[in-house]
Amino acid sequence: MTLNYYKEELKNTAASLAKAGKGILAVDESTKTIGKRLASINVENTEENRKAYRGLLFTTKGLGEYISGAILFEETLFQNHTDGESMVKKLEKLGVIPGIKVDKGLRPLSGGNDVETFCSGLDGLVERASDYYSQGARFAKWRAVLQITEDGCPSKLSIKENAWGLARYARSVQESGLVPIIEPEILMDGSHGINKTAAIQEEVIKEVYMACQLNGVYLEGSLLKPSMTVQGADSKEQNDPQKIAEMTIRTMERSVPASVPGIVFLSGGLGEEAASIYLNLMNKQIRKANWNVGFSYGRALQHSCLKEWNGNNDSAGQKALLARAQANSEASKGCYIAGSQPSSDEALFVAGYKY
Ligand code: 13P
Repeated sequence: MTLNYYKEELKNTAASLAKAGKGILAVDESTKTIGKRLASINVENTEENRKAYRGLLFTTKGLGEYISGAILFEETLFQNHTDGESMVKKLEKLGVIPGIKVDKGLRPLSGGNDVETFCSGLDGLVERASDYYSQGARFAKWRAVLQITEDGCPSKLSIKENAWGLARYARSVQESGLVPIIEPEILMDGSHGINKTAAIQEEVIKEVYMACQLNGVYLEGSLLKPSMTVQGADSKEQNDPQKIAEMTIRTMERSVPASVPGIVFLSGGLGEEAASIYLNLMNKQIRKANWNVGFSYGRALQHSCLKEWNGNNDSAGQKALLARAQANSEASKGCYIAGSQPSSDEALFVAGYKY
């Protein structure tokens, strides 16, 4: 099939994912990363336990009211729930669209600085995406990572390479009917201020859309997943939530084309409540473009849920998930009242985070 064949469907899927008041649940942690999460509650990283935890997420009654899509790791896309029904079917029953992480992880960028990486997984991607589509996936994710350092990172090389990879990926999965979530994450690591983040993020996102144009990516059938425009985690600067919301929207307005239907932010190590508050303030602002401003959170949606589940308490885990999903749904309409839903006040930032 070709991109032209799927255009209408891609546009409809992207619009459903970016519907006002709904967002995406990112559950695509690699086996190693989910292992770290499970270890934090003393649960062993076995396939059975991963299935039990993710099965609990995907059978949370009412989740589809707040969540439009869920990003899965390959294992989950092809997995059955303990009751024998597929995980894909479970999501479909909730009205949640299944998606799939298609990148094969970060690799060191030769010619770049020590911390710089590129994202791998382009070989055979059109064919893989087509298998994922047959299995029920309707959208995809690819996470490229850039870091701001005192000695000049991200380099021009890293910006170009990561933008190019994102655009090649986006075009490749669109050929197989999957909506690409384009994720150029700027890590929070570093001591830089918010103005530096904004300047670099503008440059990176503009480069991504130039590469998308060269590759013929169909923007109406795609979504952007950026980090919010915040100061570095070790910065002395203290910016209030309103400033962060304004700077983030300014960055997006300067760099994201109006044809993109939705911007779904990652949480990137922000605490659960902060991620909701920043999103809420962004949605209170009058904006120049019509893109939906929503969420695609991993840690900020799952942290309390995992703690409450604690290996066997399904109803407590589901209640916590639903609470954060509702908070972020309200935030994506600009009507979240801070503190109206329970949250964990634990800091979720981890230096040099690997997904
Ligand atoms: P976080 O919200 O935990 O940053 O994860 C979102 C994600 O999918 C990162 O690729």
